[in-house]
Amino acid sequence: MAAAGHDVDQGNVDQANSGLDRYRRLHAASLADPEAFWREAAGAVDWVTPPTTVLDAFAAPFYRWFPDASLNTSYNALDRHVDAGRGGQAALVYDSAMLGVSRTYTYAELLDEVAVFAGVLAGLGVGKGDRVLIYLPMIPEAVVAMLAAARLGAVHSVVFGGFAPAELAARIRDARPSVILTASGGIEPGRRVEYLPAVHAALALAESAGTPVVAKAREGFAHGIRDYQEPGTSWLDWDDAVSTASAVPPVEVAATDPLYILYTSGTTGAPKGVVRDNGGHAVALTWSMQGIFGIGPGDVMLTASDVGWVVGHSYIVYGPLLAGATTVLYEGKPVGTPDAGVFGRLIEQHSVKVLFTAPTALRAIRRADPEGAALRAHDLSSLATLFSAGERLDTGTSGWIGEVLGVPVVDNWWQTETGWPICANPRGLGGVPLRAGSPSLPSPGFDVVVLDHQGSAVPAGTEGSIALRLPLPPGALTTLWGSDARYRDSYLSSFEGYYTSGDSGYVDSDGYVFVMGRTDDVINVAGHRLSTGAIEQVIAQHPAVAECAVLGLQDPLKGQRASGYVVLKSGASVDPLTLQADLVAMVRTAIGPVADFRSAVVVEALPKTRSGKILRKTMRQMAAGESYVVPSTIEDPAVLAALEPLLRPRPE
Ligand code: COA
Ligand code: AMP
Repeated sequence: MAAAGHDVDQGNVDQANSGLDRYRRLHAASLADPEAFWREAAGAVDWVTPPTTVLDAFAAPFYRWFPDASLNTSYNALDRHVDAGRGGQAALVYDSAMLGVSRTYTYAELLDEVAVFAGVLAGLGVGKGDRVLIYLPMIPEAVVAMLAAARLGAVHSVVFGGFAPAELAARIRDARPSVILTASGGIEPGRRVEYLPAVHAALALAESAGTPVVAKAREGFAHGIRDYQEPGTSWLDWDDAVSTASAVPPVEVAATDPLYILYTSGTTGAPKGVVRDNGGHAVALTWSMQGIFGIGPGDVMLTASDVGWVVGHSYIVYGPLLAGATTVLYEGKPVGTPDAGVFGRLIEQHSVKVLFTAPTALRAIRRADPEGAALRAHDLSSLATLFSAGERLDTGTSGWIGEVLGVPVVDNWWQTETGWPICANPRGLGGVPLRAGSPSLPSPGFDVVVLDHQGSAVPAGTEGSIALRLPLPPGALTTLWGSDARYRDSYLSSFEGYYTSGDSGYVDSDGYVFVMGRTDDVINVAGHRLSTGAIEQVIAQHPAVAECAVLGLQDPLKGQRASGYVVLKSGASVDPLTLQADLVAMVRTAIGPVADFRSAVVVEALPKTRSGKILRKTMRQMAAGESYVVPSTIEDPAVLAALEPLLRPRPE
């Protein structure tokens, strides 16, 4: 079905239409001659060796951007702005609603901190290509750590603080870091999350107890590095280490060298280490800051996410700093810290031009304050645009927040893998007419095609698998850490010549993309990407559980929530509520509070095909109240029928 052409832009229609013309010319040019397009965009980056070749397709489907160029990403994010005389401009504003403090770092100050901390890392033997694992809450040290690693040509891997030791251990095992950077802990409403015991446990699980740990001490936590001074280990205090270190210069790296690894959930329990390069990343993010977000030097951007997610990497840290803008690092929640007006307070206090957040945060604000009075109580006049990503933005929420803030609301669709929006409304190009329910049009270099099961492109308005024709533009993943084969199998093998996004959706007759949901077992809980397979692996370890299926059910606040359906071993007798409590605790311990797993239902049997595959998709469709076709290969239709009353959506 083609979507109705519903224009909800509050801007001038003529301006939007001229923006559309401009966009269409630019996008067409980026696909017709990607090398010319990205060569020009590369002019906005400071290279040590400028690129002569733009795209290397020699090892296709593995592509490399700017194969003969070199640069340093940290230099581009900091030094060059200072060299250009803007050292006194604000680079980073740390605003903690949890502590009630706000501190501004100029570009010169942030550069000093980063250069000296790079000296700490160098003193620990970290050099080009070494991995630095960062497990830090939303404090300035997280930004310093990332940029310091980049300064040395080391490869950072940030792990979100809501993950449990076992998940941290899995990442340590895979990335084999030379050092771990952490802090006493994170502050959640009502509780302190102690990081040091988690790091200690993870190192033990990963059999890496000797890996040096540098920890920033924060007040109010029970544990300190003094608790972990065991033989064969090296736990250092952050400030002590800094006090004896000297600044080091940026190290030249190849554009194709990895800048970071960011682990994300796939369909299995083992997280996938998305690898991002230095050169393509710098070029693409720099382009996106101006072209999509309309942010340039001196503008202020508040991305209310976490440095542990891709949105945080790209638009808390690298994007704004590469653009010479000011980034606000916000430690707090959208509601409750202290109220649903906190984003308004941040906009007013820091003159924010662009706010970027997730739909779940907007729904939480609306639920807490349906009139938006707490937001409206602030001077919001600096705000130009609200960007939203991470999950589908429903039109009710979008319309509501647009009315409260009085600015255009721009849905944008992307993934950890792509690093920047696949589809967005390019506000910096003048914008295109917004269309309700759609993240608008593909960004330059993204050739979006909807395919059927056979890999044939479907007509406009028909739903299918959303694929991206290769090569992906600069800034997208180059491979998975340590496994080219897994990269190929996960993304490139379903349809030759395409990257499979894992999302389904359709493109309307005007080229607007509509993203409907995942085609695999990845779910999105409060903007956090999780694997139902990973949760199933944990549940299956319970002694009473014979088998289980975990589904992502719709949730009015969090978008989705994980719900388990469990078949007991024959003869097992457990109280269902006790079992549920056990399973909830197991998932919390193994994956972390971020999984937010709360419901496990005992069922007689799970519906399967004759070959034994659990019909998760059919269950999911049933639970979503969607129409579904019972597969002809089903083993026993009665099993599915028996589940229907349990799965059918209940009225709110
Ligand atoms: N460190 C440790 N624990 C964390 C954490 C972190 N960084 N972030 C979340 N958690 C914990 C929470 O404390 C909570 O634990 P609990 O079960 O003991 O209460 C659990 O994980 C679930 O947290 P959350 O998903 O944040 O749910 P919530 O009900 O506490 O809050 C929202 C709901 C909507 C306010 C919140 O999810 C939110 O702000 N979401 C926006 C997320 C976002 O910006 N994502 C960006 C991706 S682009
Ligand atoms: P992550 O890698 O955590 O950013 O999650 C990526 C997934 O989130 C995508 O594959 C989509 O399923 C979903 N997603 C992100 N942004 C959007 C959006 N704007 N609309 C719909 N789904 C989205």
